[in-house]
Amino acid sequence: MPQITLRGITKRFSNVTAADDLNLIVKDREYLCLLGPTGAGKTTTLRIIAGLTMPDLGTVHFDDRDVTSLEPEKRNAVLLSQTYSLFPTMTVAENILFGPEIRNMPAPEKEQLLVSLLDLVRLTKRADSYPWELSGGMQQRNALARAIATNPDVLLLDEPLRALDARLRIVLRKELRSLAKTIGLTVIHVTHDQDEALVMADRIAVIRAGRIVQIGTPQEIFNNPISPFVANFVGQSNFFVGRVVTSGPNGSEVEDHLGRRMKARPTEVPLGAKVVVAVKVGHTRLLKFNVAKLRGTIERMLFEGRVVHVDVDVDGLGRFSAKIPASHRDRYHVGDKVGIGWGRSRAIVFPYPADGLENELRVD
Ligand SMILES: Nc1ncnc2c1ncn2[C@@H]1O[C@H](COP(=O)(O)OP(=O)(O)OP(=O)(O)O)[C@@H](O)[C@H]1O
Ligand SMILES: [Mg+2]
Repeated sequence: MPQITLRGITKRFSNVTAADDLNLIVKDREYLCLLGPTGAGKTTTLRIIAGLTMPDLGTVHFDDRDVTSLEPEKRNAVLLSQTYSLFPTMTVAENILFGPEIRNMPAPEKEQLLVSLLDLVRLTKRADSYPWELSGGMQQRNALARAIATNPDVLLLDEPLRALDARLRIVLRKELRSLAKTIGLTVIHVTHDQDEALVMADRIAVIRAGRIVQIGTPQEIFNNPISPFVANFVGQSNFFVGRVVTSGPNGSEVEDHLGRRMKARPTEVPLGAKVVVAVKVGHTRLLKFNVAKLRGTIERMLFEGRVVHVDVDVDGLGRFSAKIPASHRDRYHVGDKVGIGWGRSRAIVFPYPADGLENELRVD
């Protein structure tokens, strides 16, 4: 199944640049998650790969084949669109078998395929229902099965699990990925759910304003984000703004406007430069008030099951968040004075963004 290469893809809609000199390589049989905020250009990118939208500039290759001006039907790439549509006069089973019918698949093979796809998308009992008799999530699963049944080389999925309830979404994450691996498909799966991307992807491509801003394994994207935006979009971060005051091979120190010095990873940013230090919420610790340099007041505690999310109003800095084990819940209360800290290796130093931190973190 092909490697997909996008080179210099640009697409404008009147005054909006949906793809802006976008470059991306999706490897043969890779499960790639395209992760980004709303309006980032995710659907546009999929449609360009499927041949449903023509780019203004740039090329699309499947392996060495330039498919940029090839008809959608000739690409063997199927797009499961965000607004999935089923044939309203066909049952679940007929919708699934639409592609195999056209290809004249022999009956026994067709029957076997139908059974396994109905099982995959948990619709065995609804095989004879019509789309209007199904819930939104069932329709989406039906559309997913129909897309897979067309036997594509490339599967383009636009938010395929969006309409499902939380439990089923988590089950289908695993099954969809393992199915793609079994068949050997090259998959691009669009999502704005970071957890989904982290769990499912071989690699994640983070897209923003029509450009791929970082591509890497889930671990790379999570542990070594390239910018404050990625640090916050994938696994929410706290930010500490200051200037680099010491710097060496083992780490650096950053001091804020109130003279508080915090430890961070080594940095190339020169001494004295304004920086922002990002620390994942999950890596931020609550400390005893007396021993901490950053101190504040607990303003909110949200029970999340195994952990409790704690928001702390830090003096002169604003909100920092942390997670504590649910078993520690009774040690803290809203209004308590606490400290905030982190391990040096968890704190990543970025040059202060030219347009300001707020603009850097914007997701609209
Ligand atoms: N056919 C179109 N005509 C005009 N503008 C469009 C068209 N398609 C997309 N756009 C614009 O291009 C930008 C990118 O749109 P796109 O649908 O690719 O975003 P997305 O990342 O899929 O967002 P979402 O997560 O909301 O689905 C948006 O600003 C959108 O309004
Ligand atoms: Mg979209």
